[in-house]
Amino acid sequence: MTPAHRREDALQTRAVHPPAPETGLLGRASAPPVHRTATFTFDSSDSFATVMSDHTRGYAYSRIDNPTSDAFAQAVAGLEGGQDGQPFASGMAAITTTLLAFLSAGDHVVAQRRLYGGTHHVLTRVLPRWGIGVSFADSPQEAAAAMTDTTRLVWCETISNPTLRVADIPALAAVAHAGGALLAVDSTFATPVVCRPLSMGADLVVHSATKYIGGHSDATGGVVVGEREHLDAVRALRTDLGGSLAPDEAFLLLRGLQTLPLRVERQNRTAARLAEGLAVHRAVERVEYPGLPGRPDHALAEAVLASGRFGGVVTLTPRGGKEAALRLCDSLRLCHIVTSLGGTATGVSHVASTSHRQLDDDALTAAGIAPGAIRVAVGLEDPDDLLADFHSALDGL
Ligand SMILES: Cc1ncc(COP(=O)(O)O)c(C=O)c1O
Repeated sequence: MTPAHRREDALQTRAVHPPAPETGLLGRASAPPVHRTATFTFDSSDSFATVMSDHTRGYAYSRIDNPTSDAFAQAVAGLEGGQDGQPFASGMAAITTTLLAFLSAGDHVVAQRRLYGGTHHVLTRVLPRWGIGVSFADSPQEAAAAMTDTTRLVWCETISNPTLRVADIPALAAVAHAGGALLAVDSTFATPVVCRPLSMGADLVVHSATKYIGGHSDATGGVVVGEREHLDAVRALRTDLGGSLAPDEAFLLLRGLQTLPLRVERQNRTAARLAEGLAVHRAVERVEYPGLPGRPDHALAEAVLASGRFGGVVTLTPRGGKEAALRLCDSLRLCHIVTSLGGTATGVSHVASTSHRQLDDDALTAAGIAPGAIRVAVGLEDPDDLLADFHSALDGL
């Protein structure tokens, strides 16, 4: 499989020219073929055994590898600038498999305090059952102080869900490496259009492909990208745990990937406009958006994120707490009330009762999540229509 793109081609060029699957015949399919099969058959038991024992790359069983799912992971690796990528059935399958691939009983992980609720839950409730310790840190300095002899992994999100804090990836990479650990970055909210963590020293990049990468709210998947040596460990554990990506989902994710730069650029522009427009409304208590000047991490956002791009999510807290937040969500005309993000239609969700429902009040406060916070995942609607919809709903509070 040879990539049709060159590493130096622009992102949108690379997105529409992912590595093309070989057919072995003259002529290649323009769209990726879907290898909708659980098993692969061989001419001899000997070649079957060779593939099963990993002595020759080949396909035997789709829980282990599937050509369509591999094509998807390689395409993301191409955009992130990674040597290899491994596909997963969901973002959480990618996250849990990565954590368990590098952590054993007695090990320790240092994680950013502000994280997706599902990841927070795995770190605080699941990993301790296997004797894996976790410390949370708000800054690279706190992360350095939290490192121990047994720290194997440092974990952060490029733009945190839903507080939209930007991680200082170069500084966290230095902290991790000084302690002999790896830095893993969940870059779901950023996508390779907004940030490429591997180029800043990260060792592993994880995505929920369900979000921007798929981009149409019609497929669930995940992916991990990094150096082959690390990805071999991730693939081996995925084979055992079984969170493998189905080929039909991989096809949809590959299709979404081709328009990723176009969609994300547009969503970023609209989000910036919405954040500015909402910040001045009298019914709004607070707007979180890394692109708003005056935010504590605005300079960091400018350094870590691609020029002029600050993500497609805005977190909005209306005056009046949870009750006002729920009323606002219910009175928006154009927005879907949904838990996911990164689709074509703008989605809103009340954070404390949905994506971060696993956090108790103390953990919500520690993570900086207000009881009335609403996550607004901006879609592809006309920006004026969207702003008018929010203003009219806020006027009615
Ligand atoms: C930042 C982040 N990482 C991971 C996940 C989990 O992804 P999935 O729902 O595909 O398992 C989510 C889901 O919302 C997320 O927001």
